[in-house]
Amino acid sequence: MSKKIGILTSGGDCAGLNAVIRAVVHRADLLGWEVFGIKDGTHGLLQDPPQYRKLEISEFDGNILRRGGTILGTTNKGDPFAFPMPDGSLKDRSDEIIANFKKIGLDAVICIGGDGSFAILRKLAQKGGINMVGVPKTIDNDIGCTEASVGFDTAVSVATEALDRLQPTAASHDRVMVLEVMGRDAGHIALTAGIAGGADVILIPEIDYSLESVNKKIKSVLASGRNFGLVVVSEAVKTEEGEKYMVEYSDGQKRYGGIGNYIGEKIAEGTGAETRVTTLGHVQRGSPPTYNDRLIASAFGVRAVDLIAEDKFDRMVAWVNRSVVDVPIKDAIAAYQDVSLDDSLVHTARALGISLGDN
Ligand code: F6P
Repeated sequence: MSKKIGILTSGGDCAGLNAVIRAVVHRADLLGWEVFGIKDGTHGLLQDPPQYRKLEISEFDGNILRRGGTILGTTNKGDPFAFPMPDGSLKDRSDEIIANFKKIGLDAVICIGGDGSFAILRKLAQKGGINMVGVPKTIDNDIGCTEASVGFDTAVSVATEALDRLQPTAASHDRVMVLEVMGRDAGHIALTAGIAGGADVILIPEIDYSLESVNKKIKSVLASGRNFGLVVVSEAVKTEEGEKYMVEYSDGQKRYGGIGNYIGEKIAEGTGAETRVTTLGHVQRGSPPTYNDRLIASAFGVRAVDLIAEDKFDRMVAWVNRSVVDVPIKDAIAAYQDVSLDDSLVHTARALGISLGDN
């Protein structure tokens, strides 16, 4: 039976979102279904008229697979259950979204998001009796029940390439380079890119560090005859006294940022080494997806449509043992996944002599 399905991207963008959308449109087309793209996450359904459009297969023949960002737009602000209004109040606008979803006449919706978005979207789906399937995406790779989320591999590649670019300039000037990477409260990007990029020190929020230990490592690297050092710091690492480094934006929202400068200054003070700091920021989200992100995005998109065909809802597609599986969305939200201390990459880093700041 022919179906009309919706698709939206929610939360921070990342590389590979367009590859998911493309896979969904291709798979649905083979089944004879129509796909409607909803603009800017749930915000498209808060507009009058609702902002959405039919996605035609002809749009997806060319370069969409390769493009970063999301052709649908996204937002990581404005929880519809407590939506910020111009007068400063918060309003529950969930009924407007549900009403518009019904007005479009969609049989189901594929939501590409992270754990924060999934919690809100699932609440909406349950309240409105909406058939929802989730596709995990986040550069932070912190969604439970899946080994990989769309966007993580690209972010790690960008961070690794940054280390490749920092190393020659560090060696030319006898410097220690500190690279601050994203990841919110999970250190996956820092740990993975730090190992791949040959870092001497990797600091992640899951492992408490001491500046004494960081500086001991840098001094020993420089004493060994090497004239440069590479340090990777995840944005949610705190000061030694336990303070978070946050930036307050004009809209009052706070985001991580700045811990790299703190670590850089402390290394310069404690070791005498000339130190420079690079904060990588949103370039980790914006590049064309790696082959691996294109691959899981394609596999996820196909499986998400197949779940709808099988009438399986309230589920998230997941990557486990090189295969696509599906799990209850609530389990994925509950199983938040930061770096565990027995992660094999933690062992790998230590075994390579990389300091994690705690010894
Ligand atoms: O969750 C993805 C992420 O890129 C985090 O790593 C980072 O802390 C945050 O989003 C940045 O958010 P924004 O795009 O609002 O600056």
